[in-house]
Amino acid sequence: MTDSITTETADVLVVGSGIAGCAAALAAARDGATVLLLTKAERPDDASTDWAQGGISTTCDSPEALKSDILAASDGTADPDAVDVLVENADSAVEDVLFETLGIEFDETDDGEFDYTREAAHSADRILHVDAATGTHILRPFLNHVDEHERIEVRQDTAALELITHEGRVHGVVSDDQPTGHPIFAGATILATGGIGALYTRSTNPDDATGDGIAMAALAGADVADIEYIQFHPTVYDGDDPFLLSEALRGEGAILRNGTGERFMTDYHPQGDLAPRDVVARAVETERQATGEVVLDVSPLDFETEYPSIAAKCHKRGIEGDEIPVAACEHFLCGGIDVDEYGRTSLDHLYAVGECAGTGVHGANRLASTSLLEGLVWGLRAGKDAGGFEPQPVDTPILRDSDPELPERFAAEKFTRLQQTMDEHLSLERKPAEIARASAVLRRLKGEVDAYIRTRTARDLYELRNASVTALLIARAASENTESRGCHYIVDADDSPAEQLADD
Ligand code: SIN
Repeated sequence: MTDSITTETADVLVVGSGIAGCAAALAAARDGATVLLLTKAERPDDASTDWAQGGISTTCDSPEALKSDILAASDGTADPDAVDVLVENADSAVEDVLFETLGIEFDETDDGEFDYTREAAHSADRILHVDAATGTHILRPFLNHVDEHERIEVRQDTAALELITHEGRVHGVVSDDQPTGHPIFAGATILATGGIGALYTRSTNPDDATGDGIAMAALAGADVADIEYIQFHPTVYDGDDPFLLSEALRGEGAILRNGTGERFMTDYHPQGDLAPRDVVARAVETERQATGEVVLDVSPLDFETEYPSIAAKCHKRGIEGDEIPVAACEHFLCGGIDVDEYGRTSLDHLYAVGECAGTGVHGANRLASTSLLEGLVWGLRAGKDAGGFEPQPVDTPILRDSDPELPERFAAEKFTRLQQTMDEHLSLERKPAEIARASAVLRRLKGEVDAYIRTRTARDLYELRNASVTALLIARAASENTESRGCHYIVDADDSPAEQLADD
């Protein structure tokens, strides 16, 4: 550290401003901690939460029934203890934060009851929603609330570049507030950095979902879990400027049809259009290849009245009529930084919550409308657990910005290569030979990025570093897991990655 670098401290440092980060900040502040919330975002719609459509699951029928649906959708791979934590804390978290603290007005029926909706693989109508724009309606008041809290400071347009570690403990982060890094020391650090959509060409996530927290944690030595399970959403508009067509549409009666106009999902699964998401996503892609296109037929719905926000997106793109062309595209990372029931990682004083965390709740395939709930429940638990530790300033990583200029378009070109590699080799279907090929490309790419990062602190370069580290972790986990389950769907399983790489 040099004298010219300013440092600061907070009891609890939260990185990320989606529902999980806001919940963690709120819980820590309620417990008396001073909280600094850093976010790369400049506007709320830079957080995946703001893009969430369907809603937030409750246990209004029974916690056991929701647990059973989560386990079934995950093909029996979700961790039952983690699912218990979710379902046992679901309703109190929703009541506390969404009803009492934020006063969210979820849609109601004409009788004044909650208008619970259903999505794929749910056995009951139990999902609270606001139109099909639930994330927006939760996140914006939540951000306002934490912003106004006397013990929380929200700092926008600020990225964490590295974790500060000393003898196995995490002491905070180096942020990009200063060209050579700004150390922020914290008693506890909570990563809530969201998903990995930017690793793919087409995703339902914001562009800045570059796997930052996962990469920083892994580089500091934290364990990751279930990171090969990447969920693709089956109904995303198949055209320029893609957008999600919520599963709630099928939950209320919309139908998938192939290029010859036939319903096809009952040929693939007894639950038909409401089969688990991984099954529907693969079926959509199979039918697109066989028949040219797949459409979501919304004619059984009162589409314009019931789903005005999605209808508006259709109109904006010139889609009129009842049939909306769809394709599967990247949506959610089911695993992430390995955490326990309080969001504690394998490193002392480091927590992870929300999509960057691997709680075990989703196993190999996530049930719809459990991500906002998981972020809320684990955010509150981690924030409460994280208070009470003294920040301890220690030596920080030395970041150099001695050669700030990058060759033109360096980061953008490398990002394109990374996305093409992930699209081709690590998406809906995986072949061991292709996973091996992807690993080789990604290793080379990471080597090139590492060479540049030694003398530069540009945010886009760090995002590229984080994306390439996360992509490599995914490739490694995919190559080590030879069992085809849920979102890790292996074809040509007999060909081992090692043999294929040797053949190349
Ligand atoms: C959707 O509305 O289809 C997405 C909901 C989710 O991913 O949980």
